[in-house]
Amino acid sequence: MDLGIKGKKAIVNGGSSGMGRGAVLALAKEGVEIFVSARGEERLVRSCEEISELTNALITPIVADHSTDKGRELILSLCPEPDIFVGTCAPPSFTGDFHSVSMEAWTETLSIALQSPVQFMNEILPGMCDRKWGRVVNIATAAAKYPSAARILSGPPRAALVNYTVAVSKEVAKHNVCVNNILPGMHITDPIIEMFTNIAKENGTTMDEEIKNVCNEHKIAAGRFGDPDDVGSVVAMLCSEFSNYITGQSLIVDGGVTNSTF
Ligand SMILES: NC(=O)c1ccc[n+]([C@@H]2O[C@H](COP(=O)([O-])OP(=O)(O)OC[C@H]3O[C@@H](n4cnc5c(N)ncnc54)[C@H](OP(=O)(O)O)[C@@H]3O)[C@@H](O)[C@H]2O)c1
Repeated sequence: MDLGIKGKKAIVNGGSSGMGRGAVLALAKEGVEIFVSARGEERLVRSCEEISELTNALITPIVADHSTDKGRELILSLCPEPDIFVGTCAPPSFTGDFHSVSMEAWTETLSIALQSPVQFMNEILPGMCDRKWGRVVNIATAAAKYPSAARILSGPPRAALVNYTVAVSKEVAKHNVCVNNILPGMHITDPIIEMFTNIAKENGTTMDEEIKNVCNEHKIAAGRFGDPDDVGSVVAMLCSEFSNYITGQSLIVDGGVTNSTF
């Protein structure tokens, strides 16, 4: 199915790995030109080349930290008029006792997970409104909606981001600019593989056994963790021509852990 976004320009921040990479792949398959940022050059360049070869899409890697002014300036200088913006970062660290979280850790997570996407939206939304077309998708976390002490550095900044995006989405909707969030549950990405490999080592089990235990414990109805491409496809859908009447939404992608009838 053609999503109607061939030739559009996209910035994907945090796109060399995991769900950001999944988003790059899904958009590249649709013929979108993509500017992908990450801090680590080797993985970024490799990933962009792989996806470019697979899809023939034009992809520009940008080595930049999108949580800094310098990084944001570089990204926007290379793609000043994006039609699509997708923002993500590495999962913030898991936390033990809530009262032991340091001020440095709070400052870091707020600058990467909240201030950065807010700054990008401030910069790019006016141009999207002038051009009468725009899509923004923030890949955040289910912990924004379902708080847990272990995810205190991840959920609260994203709950604020969701609040901000809903408020802003109402301002820009009349210009055919849609702003949405994806709130993922557990997905198999590098940090999760590392975490479950370590747990398996400690317990003398395998990673698959540990993941199965979590699926049972957390009642993941799909019986598995998600794949980065599961999220990538949803990003592409929300960036498509057909999603022009969905805005200010935060879609949980968690294999059926959380339920509500409506
Ligand atoms: N995986 C899960 O199970 C899960 C569950 C719930 C929510 N989430 C959320 O989903 C998002 C993506 O997680 P993931 O597991 O896909 O992460 P990942 O595999 O670690 O990928 C993170 C990507 O962001 C880049 N990045 C991180 N900080 C950056 C920065 N300041 N500037 C530019 N690029 C940056 C990383 O590259 P560099 O390190 O080279 O910069 C990498 O490309 C996170 O927000 C996480 O909290 C994940």
